[in-house]
Amino acid sequence: KKRCKQLQYSITRQKTNNQPVIPRSLIVKVQGVSLPDHIAKAFEAASAFTPDPSDLIIISYPKSGTTWIQEIVDLLLHNGDDGSSKRASIVKRHPFLEYCICYEPSGLDLLKEMDPPRVIKTHMPLQLVPAGFWENKCKIIYIARNAKDTLVSYYHFLRMSKISPEPGPWEGFIHKFMRGELGWGSWYDHVKGYWEEREKRNILFLFYEDMKENPRREIERIMKYLDLYLPDDVISHIVEMTTFKNMEENPMVNYSFFGKEIFDQTISKFMRKGEIGDWKNHFTPEQSAEFDEDYQKKMKNVNIPFRAQF
Ligand SMILES: *[C@@H]1O[C@H](CO)[C@@H](O)[C@H](O)[C@H]1NC(C)=O
Repeated sequence: KKRCKQLQYSITRQKTNNQPVIPRSLIVKVQGVSLPDHIAKAFEAASAFTPDPSDLIIISYPKSGTTWIQEIVDLLLHNGDDGSSKRASIVKRHPFLEYCICYEPSGLDLLKEMDPPRVIKTHMPLQLVPAGFWENKCKIIYIARNAKDTLVSYYHFLRMSKISPEPGPWEGFIHKFMRGELGWGSWYDHVKGYWEEREKRNILFLFYEDMKENPRREIERIMKYLDLYLPDDVISHIVEMTTFKNMEENPMVNYSFFGKEIFDQTISKFMRKGEIGDWKNHFTPEQSAEFDEDYQKKMKNVNIPFRAQF
């Protein structure tokens, strides 16, 4: 409540003297998981949300290819119709469950106005998602990306996302990631949680690297999971519409609909590179070795077939 007032105050100030003074959020812990405070604020209400059995949930750790999957799903559900993505921004088409900044409709506000079947986005780790996801046996798509590229992408994202916690210097950022101190907590626990439950809970578990390698194959997997059967030419069209280049130039998915006080894309673009292995341009050999050693320890009990990790 108090922060919300502060935020509104800053926004007003910003409007009056044209100074971007929006405060960045801070990390707080909710049930042991680090969350930006503007997200933690919506946590209880989000947990109580009950989806309809027909709703589809897209889940990921931040910066793993969420928007990419969202756009693919949207096109699949609209028979590859170009006009579908133009109907509204990706934020309005697929509400972000726990999203809550004071001067924009929250994810829950948007959901209230929509009738099922809906597509809902969340970054929540398995133990924090609403019980209703499981009770109602909603379809769930999880997208995972190798840790180092996710970390790099998260770093650049936090530089430009003015509502998010400060990333701080690069070296320290690596350690925050390793310690699970970034928003939505430990990447390691996040991917492990969904990986271990994927069969029991009928979760479609996708890898960013597989999507890059053969988008058509992965789009067909998503299509089948959704019980859709679209003709080949429609699938080809969806592949084309969701290339990095086309996504980057699509104003309904490139987040240019957010003002500079939220995402300052002059610092770093929301659709930054979309490549595999960009971590090699960021980690020193020493940082990489330290990261890998820690990774082996944290991931030793599971064999998740990530590629481009080492
Ligand atoms: C988003 O897309 C629009 C339309 O193609 C383009 O003018 C704009 O530069 C893009 N924004 C970013 C940040 O890439």
